[in-house]
Amino acid sequence: MEKSHEVLGNTPLIIAKNLGKALGIDRLYLKYEGSNPTGTQKDRVASVHVQKALEYGYNTVVVGSCGNYGAAIAYYASLHHLKSLIYIPRQFHSPRLEEIQYKYGARLMLVDGMYEDSVEASKRDASENNWFDANAGAHPELGLEAYAPIAQELFQVIGEVPDTVSVPVGNGTTLAGIYHGFEKMKISGFLKKVPKIIAASTDGGNPVISSFKGRLAKIVDFPRDKIRETELNEPLVNYHSYDGDLAYEAVLKSGGYAEYVTDEELLAFKKLVKDRENIDAIPAAVASVVGTYHVVGRKNDKGIHVAVLTG
Ligand SMILES: Cc1ncc(COP(=O)(O)O)c(C=O)c1O
Repeated sequence: MEKSHEVLGNTPLIIAKNLGKALGIDRLYLKYEGSNPTGTQKDRVASVHVQKALEYGYNTVVVGSCGNYGAAIAYYASLHHLKSLIYIPRQFHSPRLEEIQYKYGARLMLVDGMYEDSVEASKRDASENNWFDANAGAHPELGLEAYAPIAQELFQVIGEVPDTVSVPVGNGTTLAGIYHGFEKMKISGFLKKVPKIIAASTDGGNPVISSFKGRLAKIVDFPRDKIRETELNEPLVNYHSYDGDLAYEAVLKSGGYAEYVTDEELLAFKKLVKDRENIDAIPAAVASVVGTYHVVGRKNDKGIHVAVLTG
């Protein structure tokens, strides 16, 4: 599938017959967020944050990122002539550093430490310099607003409420927003039910999954010293998920699931998605497909199952 690089949102929904056949899932849909202008779902949340920064009269936007959100913020900031500073851990392998600096003109700040250290450094600089803090968790309502339309787009095209919607999870913003979209439609009487939400993230460490596996009533951070970050899992690995409380609540309230995904599965499913559906997804984005497979694969299940391919 071609990346359009033009239009935000209203991303393609693919009936993944061939992939579904390979995984033993009868009605599998892929919501392909890679068609957004900078190639991931992060465009949705970046655009809303840059709009808010403009509305408040800021001239500079900052964010800590693994690379994808940074590229999206840099892109939308450049469209609106705002400055942006993107804080990324020095040891990360993001392929997006040149694009961030030279295509969108953002200032790249390499930080010694983990993803969360980059977020904290950017937050500190934002408060000292009166810059707009676009980090996950800084304005949770913006994340909910940004991703809720994915739920509406799904319902509009499928015409029914899916039985499950699976989402790759890092901070949990995307998942929480999608759930919020379904919940809003239910509250306003459009829908009778919401889908069960499947959170899928790396076995390198994520508190949404570890808390679910530990059957905890509330989310608890993953032990920082047990984090195992790799080139493949960088968009998903967190010891603290900044919107993790909202995501965790969404999984529990929907009666959903949370699944760990290995790097080997990310690579194998990336290949499978390419071979069966001709979609070039990034490895972290196919975590959702792995999650769906863990929950309903090879079970002769007749329900409607959506996996959100985030990029
Ligand atoms: C491609 C991709 N998918 C999923 C995620 C996780 O999204 P969230 O932080 O909203 O949980 C990220 C985060 O950077 C990402 O880049």
